[in-house]
Amino acid sequence: MNPENEVKPSTKKRIAVIPGDGIGKEVIPQAVGVMRATGAALEFTEFDWGADRYLRDGTTVPPDGFTMLARDFDAILVGAFGDPRVKTNIHAKEILLGMRFQMDLYANVRPVRLLDAGLCPLKNVEPKDVDFVVLRENTEGVYTDAGGVFKQGTPDEIAMQEDLNTRKGVERIIHYAFEYCRAHRKLDGSPRSKVLMCDKSNAMTHAGGLWQRVFKEVSAGFSEITTQHMYVDALCLQMVRDPRQFDVVVTNNMFGDIITDLAAALQGGLGMAASGNIHPGRTSMFEPVHGSAPPIAGKNLANPFGAILTAAMMLRHLKFTREPDQIEAAVLEAVRLNKTTQDANGTLGTREAGQWVAEHVMI
Ligand code: NAD
Ligand code: IPM
Ligand code: MN
Repeated sequence: MNPENEVKPSTKKRIAVIPGDGIGKEVIPQAVGVMRATGAALEFTEFDWGADRYLRDGTTVPPDGFTMLARDFDAILVGAFGDPRVKTNIHAKEILLGMRFQMDLYANVRPVRLLDAGLCPLKNVEPKDVDFVVLRENTEGVYTDAGGVFKQGTPDEIAMQEDLNTRKGVERIIHYAFEYCRAHRKLDGSPRSKVLMCDKSNAMTHAGGLWQRVFKEVSAGFSEITTQHMYVDALCLQMVRDPRQFDVVVTNNMFGDIITDLAAALQGGLGMAASGNIHPGRTSMFEPVHGSAPPIAGKNLANPFGAILTAAMMLRHLKFTREPDQIEAAVLEAVRLNKTTQDANGTLGTREAGQWVAEHVMI
């Protein structure tokens, strides 16, 4: 073996860090700073994958990039991808969707938690009222980009975008949702007890039919868990009308994308929302829900808390116990004391808000 490629045994958890584009480059250093402040046994290696690299040398993912990530790292922390200079968004597709698809990170776990009533745009809603999780299928659906364009540029142009759903794919995310419900508690310590499946099976009968059948089959093995179904349009209404009714929500790739932006609003905006892209037992990837936010990039305006809470989620996944609790407690305190960026009612910049949390993780 080439000694350069030799993988050295390490007691520290090895974290690949890919800040990406725009505000990803501002919020990820804050998340890394907070993790360092906890003193956790971690080793960080940064990668420059993103728009700048793509525009410089045409590389999106270097050869064997995903194999290298899976082999040499315990987890991956990602910022965001998207740059107005790359109109095709090809680098985001190849890097971000590439990791999700090629590393088979089938469960996109997006917790929805309100840290402080002042962050929620709804009236009379307290933190205990917004505490659910969306489990988004992450490797199939319309995101496979199957289809094609025919007779492009003519009046007869046809564009087809297929919604690909496999029994294996649907079954494993629904199963993950029931297992998640069984294994996780709400913030107030009470057990989770309900899995809601969201689809559009009244209009999309083929894919919806598969999801309906599999949901029924899998739920039979979890008799202690209550089940519910909602069409995605109704779910959007209910999420705003009364978020208390949600516990564990499972849905397909595209609906999961859309409803988690709406859900982020309940938490105080995209700047507060965390996520994990998980395949149990494999190197998994963690990223805030938000994008690269070009209009505010480079201005020290972005909220780093989504990225910091994502880091806590990653550390919990890696079986750290003290550090994720410390990080979450420090973010909660920051929110309570308005040590936040402008989008979260504060006056601090990205760096100052991140630094405040880093200084308070040990207290
Ligand atoms: P976006 O999430 O970047 O921004 C949406 C809105 O939320 C904007 O008003 C933005 O200013 C605000 N916002 C987002 N994150 C914030 C933060 N941390 N602090 C404060 N405000 C924040 O979504 P968009 O505008 O639709 O997309 C911009 C680019 O990002 C596009 O190229 C898109 O494809 C990409 N994108 C990437 C990811 C990802 O890599 N995971 C996710 C979503 C969008
Ligand atoms: C997200 C993003 C991505 C998605 C984009 C950038 C492809 O919106 O992670 O929520 O749609 O999954
Ligand atoms: Mn999205």
